[in-house]
Amino acid sequence: MELTEEEKEMLEGKQGNAVKKSMEILVALGEIFGAKRLIPVKSVQISGVSYDNLGDAGLEFLEEMAKDGKVVVKTTLNPAGMDMENWEVLGIPKEFADKQKMVIKAFEKMGVETTCTCTPYFIGNKPGFGDHIAWGESSAVTYSNSVLGARTNKEGGPSSIASALTGRTPEYGYHLDENRKPKVLVEVEAELKNPSEFGALGKILGEKLEGRVPLINGIRKASTDDLKSLSASIVTFGGAPLFHIEGITPEKHERPEETIKVLRDDIEKAINDMNDGIEDVDFIFLGCPHCSLEELEKIAGLLKGKKVKKELWIGVARPVKKLADEKGFSKTIEDSGAKFACDTCHVVAPLKGRFKTIATNSAKGVFYGRGRNDFKTFFGSLDKCIDMAVR
Ligand code: F3S
Repeated sequence: MELTEEEKEMLEGKQGNAVKKSMEILVALGEIFGAKRLIPVKSVQISGVSYDNLGDAGLEFLEEMAKDGKVVVKTTLNPAGMDMENWEVLGIPKEFADKQKMVIKAFEKMGVETTCTCTPYFIGNKPGFGDHIAWGESSAVTYSNSVLGARTNKEGGPSSIASALTGRTPEYGYHLDENRKPKVLVEVEAELKNPSEFGALGKILGEKLEGRVPLINGIRKASTDDLKSLSASIVTFGGAPLFHIEGITPEKHERPEETIKVLRDDIEKAINDMNDGIEDVDFIFLGCPHCSLEELEKIAGLLKGKKVKKELWIGVARPVKKLADEKGFSKTIEDSGAKFACDTCHVVAPLKGRFKTIATNSAKGVFYGRGRNDFKTFFGSLDKCIDMAVR
């Protein structure tokens, strides 16, 4: 890989140990994937923030990097293993909380904005069309590539930190035009009614396309929440972190020859596959990916004057929750007994063994609820999940 004079010096350690280590990571990655050079990035989103995933070895790596490493571009964090303010309310053990705080402290020392969310585009980390970025969380990567037209590979924890500390990433994969071209035309012959049905479409495409980028036709309108749900599920179920929808997403491409159809029956089947046939649940999680303000408004409307009878958590970025506070949505939600889970979610929090069943409107939530926490799942629309919570 060809490096500039400055990059060579960074690799030699002239800008400190953390930058040296970062360059070693980026150069090794670039060489594995055949990158010709490093390119500048405009922003970074770091994954691997929960102590549940990092463990002590991960924490040690972060503390080492924080000794002399400072971020040089806008950098935010993926969800942590707990709500950084209200962890006790959510039943997180103190020993875990202490370690999680050490993780966040290390990031803070590096100059990272320690807002922990998988929807950085709702809190000011929103790249523009064509911007090169280095993001880690799969749903956010897919949303930024597809909906915003930015360019990123799905970075791991160490490589995203390396990009934050150097402002660079190796140029390969989805940074390059040729890898962004669609390979399969998907004709959707079903009207998708809500974000969970977009999640079901993502499951179908993720499983069918074997990593090929789709150009989707037949969707007349899609809200931000629909697109964030599709972004989360398509990549979770095995798809590429990039899709195009004719008339909706910003990149323009020729139609590929190979065509597949998605019918109403396929959507219904995908929905059925994500339901374990349970009548009741002991846990409900909404906000996977983290809720938009519009979703919080809807949840507040559905919970108004009601009391939840199960544990209901709502995942959200703290700044979005603050907006909901100002609009009065948060009070209505909390008056019902539902709990906000800012900074975290049902997948990265240490929940294994605590609940047996989950209701969620997120296809990604089903995938990880089953795979990581052995939950039996109820999958349905936001309205149906709220219904499960209050009855
Ligand atoms: Fe976000 Fe957690 Fe879902 S990181 S996309 S809420 S699994």
